Amino acid sequence: MEKVSFGFTDVSPQEKTHLVGDVFRRVASRYDLMNDAMSGGLHRLWKDDFVRLVQPKTGEHILDMAGGTGDIAFRLAKYGADVTVADINPAMLEVGKKRAIARSIHNLVWQEEDAETLSFDDNVFDAYTIAFGIRNVTHIQKALDEALRVLKVGGRFFCMEFSQTKWSGFSDLYKIYSTHIVPKIGQILANDEGSYRYLVESIERFPNIEKFADMIKTAGFVQVRARPILGGLVAIHSGWKV
Ligand SMILES: C[S@@+](CC[C@H](N)C(=O)[O-])C[C@H]1O[C@@H](n2cnc3c(N)ncnc32)[C@H](O)[C@@H]1O
Repeated sequence: MEKVSFGFTDVSPQEKTHLVGDVFRRVASRYDLMNDAMSGGLHRLWKDDFVRLVQPKTGEHILDMAGGTGDIAFRLAKYGADVTVADINPAMLEVGKKRAIARSIHNLVWQEEDAETLSFDDNVFDAYTIAFGIRNVTHIQKALDEALRVLKVGGRFFCMEFSQTKWSGFSDLYKIYSTHIVPKIGQILANDEGSYRYLVESIERFPNIEKFADMIKTAGFVQVRARPILGGLVAIHSGWKV
């Protein structure tokens, strides 16, 4: 029987989808606060960088996949792009919609979608973005295949995800921080140690930069590149559909 990883535990694909759904339902209302707390606000700078690399243009149609509470979409929309925020989890989308209203951003389309089986036609988006989402998807290769399908010829793919830093001293520090401190912050701020333990474990189980780049190539993208941040703790992967 097929097994996939849910953090350090191997489970059936159906169980993983269900458990990941539970995690993001539980964390939705505290998700943005926790991102700031866990990264010391750094995730904001990484997201700014990510969107700069996308180079969104006015009128472009961009799919922000696993868009959650809208952080990437809000940035893309500032450039005048038409953005569809898609996520499998309605609780995350609900928080995002409220945040958009509070920011007076009214031109986003919010849509419940599974990255593995998108409801969109072929060749419709100029760019596809996914930030800190793909490691939560049950069948990553299927999501990459779908990204290629929905992009127009000439469309750009961008994925930001955690990876393993190659800075050795920093790597040891990060290991202590992520294993011992992040779940405690989760416990204190969100009363939910388990969800934050999963988030850390899922980072460790995610393929390294080279292996993930191969998966992007297998989907059919060309000009596949990875830009490491903090020695590869985070990486921005990109590719083109031709
Ligand atoms: C860590 S959050 C990232 C949210 C946002 N992109 C950001 O950077 O703040 C991961 C998101 O992936 C979504 N997700 C997990 N599996 C998914 C799937 N199969 N299809 C679409 N979204 C998925 C979760 O619901 C969650 O909102």
